Amino acid sequence: MKVAVVGVTGLVGQRMMEVLEERNFPVTEFLPVASERSVGKTVKFGGKDYTVISAEEAISRKPDLAIFSAGAGASKELAPKFAEVGCRVVDNSSYWRMDPDKKLVIPEINPDVLTPDDYIIANPNCSTIQMLLPLAPLHKKYHIKRIVVSTYQSVTGSGNKAVAQMEAEREGKQWGEYKAFYPHPIDENILPHIDTFLDNGYTKEEMKMVNETHKILRDPLIGVSPTTARVPVIGGHSESINLEFEKDFELEDIRSIWESTPGVTVQDDPANNVYPMPKFALGKDDVFVGRLRRDPSVTYGINFWCVSDNIRKGAATNAVQIAELLIEKGFLPRY
Ligand SMILES: NC(=O)c1ccc[n+]([C@@H]2O[C@H](COP(=O)([O-])OP(=O)(O)OC[C@H]3O[C@@H](n4cnc5c(N)ncnc54)[C@H](OP(=O)(O)O)[C@@H]3O)[C@@H](O)[C@H]2O)c1
Repeated sequence: MKVAVVGVTGLVGQRMMEVLEERNFPVTEFLPVASERSVGKTVKFGGKDYTVISAEEAISRKPDLAIFSAGAGASKELAPKFAEVGCRVVDNSSYWRMDPDKKLVIPEINPDVLTPDDYIIANPNCSTIQMLLPLAPLHKKYHIKRIVVSTYQSVTGSGNKAVAQMEAEREGKQWGEYKAFYPHPIDENILPHIDTFLDNGYTKEEMKMVNETHKILRDPLIGVSPTTARVPVIGGHSESINLEFEKDFELEDIRSIWESTPGVTVQDDPANNVYPMPKFALGKDDVFVGRLRRDPSVTYGINFWCVSDNIRKGAATNAVQIAELLIEKGFLPRY
């Protein structure tokens, strides 16, 4: 299959190449795309060197599939141009996610929404994907009334420039001596601020978690109360999640539902210090859950801790799984 990766020099783009290789995605022609700044640079894919090309050049070669991780502006402008030449676009940016005509897909949860007419398909936000994977089967059985979620998101969630800021700080450089991505130092700090602030006092990242949850679970009535924070962790997002159900439940049943949910791994043995941590989720595709306990402050509620590698299941892996789903459904050619 002729496959373009748009944003190939970025953190997600690099991981996208790894995931395509690992999953033996049937790539017959590889088109690495980045901004004009990177055209002519070399990237390695499948043991071979490839020269980065412009989006225009890639479009002229009519790819079957383009996986985008180049930011909302690039997706807005370029995704329709790729789609116009018959290319299926899987987009990691936030631009198309809430468009009522575009599907927002987590393959384990709502694979059924895809139709042959879908040419631009949106990949959800990283914090939403990891939250919804363990939540979807619980919602089916116990009906979630309300979610209260606080995130502890790693710097890789902001891309290459953010990682460079934290590395500079760890080398001892002072504020003003390096190019800052965040409005404050990030190392030895926590910023309760991800993406821009909106008029309602929430950030865009927080509202993504609200709106995307409603769209993916097809239930606009679930209450979602989010706070998102950036922590000085290199990779892997963590979330403290509180759920209130409509129906009574047994904790053991929640655990066994998760144990049989594809993509979810239970790490929950506090007596032996077993619980999910970002350092150990790095490089893995699963969403790790633990610290499961009943919430004594409501009639039917739980608290738990949830960790995942934001660049894998939160971005690259989910996008490649969407592409695999398109093949399975016959919307992309089998090679
Ligand atoms: N990091 C995460 O955890 C995560 C998770 C989910 C989704 N995402 C989304 O994925 C996207 C990229 O994130 P990232 O972390 O990989 O960022 P990044 O490290 O900053 O990389 C951005 C990439 O986009 C390319 N690019 C920028 N403008 C472009 C244009 N006009 N045309 C073609 N390519 C262009 C850059 O090319 P140059 O190198 O030439 O500048 C680079 O390859 C964002 O939309 C982000 O929201 C990120």
